Amino acid sequence: MSNHLLEFRDVTKTFRIGGLIWGTQLTAVDHVNLSLAKDKPSILSVVGESGSGKTTLAKILLRLHEPTSGHVFIDGEDIFDSRSALHGKDYYRFVQPIFQNPFETFSMRKTVDNYLFDTALQLGIAKSRNKAQDVVAEALTSVGLDISTVRGKYPNQFSGGELQRISVARGLIPRPKLIVADEPVSMIDASLRMNIVNLFLELKENYGVSLIYITHDLSTAYYVSDYIAIMYRGNVVEYGPSDEILTNAAHPYTELLLDSVPTVGKKWERNLKPPELELAEYQAAACKFAERCPYVQPICREIKPPQVRITETRRALCYRPVDYQPGKTTVESEQIAVPE
Ligand SMILES: Nc1ncnc2c1ncn2[C@@H]1O[C@H](COP(=O)(O)OP(=O)(O)OP(=O)(O)O)[C@@H](O)[C@H]1O
Ligand SMILES: [Mg+2]
Repeated sequence: MSNHLLEFRDVTKTFRIGGLIWGTQLTAVDHVNLSLAKDKPSILSVVGESGSGKTTLAKILLRLHEPTSGHVFIDGEDIFDSRSALHGKDYYRFVQPIFQNPFETFSMRKTVDNYLFDTALQLGIAKSRNKAQDVVAEALTSVGLDISTVRGKYPNQFSGGELQRISVARGLIPRPKLIVADEPVSMIDASLRMNIVNLFLELKENYGVSLIYITHDLSTAYYVSDYIAIMYRGNVVEYGPSDEILTNAAHPYTELLLDSVPTVGKKWERNLKPPELELAEYQAAACKFAERCPYVQPICREIKPPQVRITETRRALCYRPVDYQPGKTTVESEQIAVPE
């Protein structure tokens, strides 16, 4: 039995972009290693600016994209192995998504209660309409709502914040162990965002649900999460306990993000960098951040930096956080490219 609820092991996803002849490869997710413990529910925030690979990572976890290489395990089962016990519909009893736009989650032509009943029936959680009503009522209670508040209403009769709360209830119907929420508050009124973020904390504490919270917003990430993974051009450049990352960034990119930390909910400027750099950065064989790093050394442009383990729970894809010495510093094997 695995002691991980979730494990991304050396996961890479490349996309082919452009035409067949002149096309090229873009590595949207690049050798990512992340895990969540099984015995203790936790919230992992995945933070990074636009195009860093966050949604691709979420889609891999939801089995909407297959990794080009590497493996994803849920409770020790490889989710892309057809022999896995989690193959097929049962998978969605473990993992549920929450999307950015709650209005796209629901059908505009169906009342919200009917939509929720159908979800319970389709997932096989309830065998009859009566049982579905009980399951839905319970899921709504978990998010602080009474079924009477949704009965007979269509999605457009709710605010974005209310509907997102209901979509969290939808995700809870199969009582998943893990929720993947991709920018769940970015389309909600700023005044209602904290309601949803606090709801995630309650779900973790009261119902033992772990959560992957994908966001541009470092401030809510800090508030809600136990761990933060900072992504840059497909790489997890820094990972660790959220308070340590926020108070003592190890990677120069994290420092840059902290310097430009927005007020709650405000996205970072999408163009912190000239766009022509983007593809070159995705494809860089060495450090993708080298061109804008204030601490860049010749080695950063020559050899991909290793995953340096800073403490038991902290790592950064960078030569700088420790006095990196090839062969001496503890690094994670898959990223090692030790200079001759
Ligand atoms: N199906 C696809 N085909 C080709 N390229 C893709 C595909 N999906 C994503 N990409 C590219 O992969 C990179 C990562 O995209 P992704 O959507 O994962 O980023 P993100 O971090 O979620 O960004 P955002 O914050 O804007 O949502 C981008 O350069 C994107 O254009
Ligand atoms: Mg995205």
